Amino acid sequence: MPLVPPYIESLRPYEPGRSSEDVRRAYGLTRVSKLASNENPIGPSPRAIEAMERCMSQLQLYPNSGLDLRRVLAEKYETKIENVIAGSGSEGIMSNIIRTFLGDEDEVLTTEAAFIGFQVLAKSRGVAYRTVPYRDWHYDLPALAAAINEHTKIVYLANPNNPTGTIFSKHEFDEFYRHVPERVLIILDEAYFEYAKDTPRYPDSMHYRYDNVITLRTFSKIYGLAGVRIGYGFAHERLISNLLKVKLPFEPSTLAQAAGIGALADKEFLHKSLEMNARGLKFLTDGLRAIGLNVVPSEANFVMVVLPDAAHATRLTTDLLTQGIIIRPLASFGLPNCVRISTGTDEDNRRCVEAIQKLQSSLA
Ligand SMILES: Cc1ncc(COP(=O)(O)O)c(C=O)c1O
Repeated sequence: MPLVPPYIESLRPYEPGRSSEDVRRAYGLTRVSKLASNENPIGPSPRAIEAMERCMSQLQLYPNSGLDLRRVLAEKYETKIENVIAGSGSEGIMSNIIRTFLGDEDEVLTTEAAFIGFQVLAKSRGVAYRTVPYRDWHYDLPALAAAINEHTKIVYLANPNNPTGTIFSKHEFDEFYRHVPERVLIILDEAYFEYAKDTPRYPDSMHYRYDNVITLRTFSKIYGLAGVRIGYGFAHERLISNLLKVKLPFEPSTLAQAAGIGALADKEFLHKSLEMNARGLKFLTDGLRAIGLNVVPSEANFVMVVLPDAAHATRLTTDLLTQGIIIRPLASFGLPNCVRISTGTDEDNRRCVEAIQKLQSSLA
C-alpha cells in the first residue's frame, strides 16, 4: 500500500474562486466585482459582528461545542437540543457525516455535477461515488430512487441545488422518500434555504420528522458569514448523538457560535439581503436572456448560464476577469460548458450584464 492511498492521490484539490485582491493586482484594476462564490454582497450581518465583539475578551476559554447556538436553534425551530448540531460551516458537518456513517463497502449516490464541496469530501473517503444525470437541470429524483442499491448508504440532495439553482418540490421529495430504505441516510443540504423558503412549492425540511434525513443549513450565505465558518443541522437524536462523538471536540469556535446567534436575531439584515437578491436574480436572469444567453431559472443567490461549449465558457470567464468581474467556471463541478454568476450589489449586477453585452459578439 503506498503512503498516500490512490483515491486521495487522484483527487483534485478544492479550487476556491479567485479573490478580488488577486484579480485587482493581476489586471491593474481599481474596481472588482466578485460574483463567484455565492457570498452576500452587502457584507456580514451587523448583529453578528456585535455578538463577536462582545465575546472577544473571553477568547482564552475553550468553546462549549456549539451548545448555546444549538439551544437558540432548538427554541426557534421548536425542537429539542438533541436534534440540533452546529459545526464549522455546513461542510464541517458534512465532513463529520462522512466520517460517522460510511463504511468501506458503502456507496454514495447523488446527481451529476453535485456541489463540489460534497464531491471532494465524499471522494476523499475512498468509497464508490455514483451519480445520475440531471433532468432539465433538476435532480432526477425517480432515477435516483431507482439507482439505490444494497450498498447505497448516503444520498446527497441540495435544495436549492448548487450550481443549477433549481429546486424540487415537497411532492417530488415525498414520492422519492417512499422508495428510500431506512438504512439509507439522506443529506438534505439547504445552504440556500432562506432564498427559496417563500416559494410555495419549496419543502421546508424542518417539517420532516424522518429518522434517516439530516438537514444542513449555513450562516455563510444570506447572513454573510462565510469567513467565520458556522453551519448547523437537524436530525433524529440518534444521528446527532453519533455525529457529536465524531466531530472535533471544540467545533464550532466561540466567535463562530456568537456570530450565528447574533445573525439569527438580525431580521432587518435578512430582509435587506433577500430584497437585494430578488432584485439581482431578476436583473441577471432578464438581462442575460435579453443578450440571448441560456439562463437556468434559479431560486438561490446565483444563476447558471449554459453556453454552447467549454471554449465559450472559458472565454467568457477570462474576458470578464480582465474587466474586473469574477464569475465561476463550472468545469471542476463536471459542467465545462456552464458558468455560475452570483447576485451582487445592484451596481455589480449592472456591470456584469453590461460587460457580457460588450462581449456578445465573441459569444455568438
Ligand atoms: C450546496 C452548498 N452546500 C454547502 C455549502 C458550504 O457552506 P458552508 O460555508 O456552510 O460550509 C455551499 C457553499 O457554496 C453550497 O453551495
